[in-house]
Amino acid sequence: MRVALGCDHGGFPLKQAVTDKIKALGFEVLNFGTDSEESVDYPDYAVKVAKAILSGQADRGILICGSGVGVCITANKFKGIYASIAHDVYTAAQGVTHDNMNILCLGGRVISPAQAAELTEAFLTANTKGQEARHLRRIKKIIEVENNNFK
Ligand code: RB5
Repeated sequence: MRVALGCDHGGFPLKQAVTDKIKALGFEVLNFGTDSEESVDYPDYAVKVAKAILSGQADRGILICGSGVGVCITANKFKGIYASIAHDVYTAAQGVTHDNMNILCLGGRVISPAQAAELTEAFLTANTKGQEARHLRRIKKIIEVENNNFK
């Protein structure tokens, strides 16, 4: 699996732990920056990661800012991106299996590097195989909303 990774300065403190976990799982890291704690604008990194997924360059993404909120809001502006903050392992995995989550958003000022590694593993080892009819029906409804086709 190819994992696009992006963060701002607020997320940078978690980046090494997330990178190490992705590699330990045997997956490839595509680094979209930032690479220091110098202040930057989180939308720039969320856009890079979202585009990497939509172009097929990456299979999933992980975005980290101070809270996880800014990158999550930005990434979800793209059709085909299903990003969510998940600061517990249940949500990090269930977001994939039930909701097709393709970007995990984390808050560098909220959780520790060890927690970030745990969440990364839960997210990347979950899959959409065996999704049940009710999940597919709900995802179809999300796509209808994306297409402005809602009632
Ligand atoms: C940057 O200070 C901070 O606002 C950003 O990292 C993020 O938390 C926004 O949601």
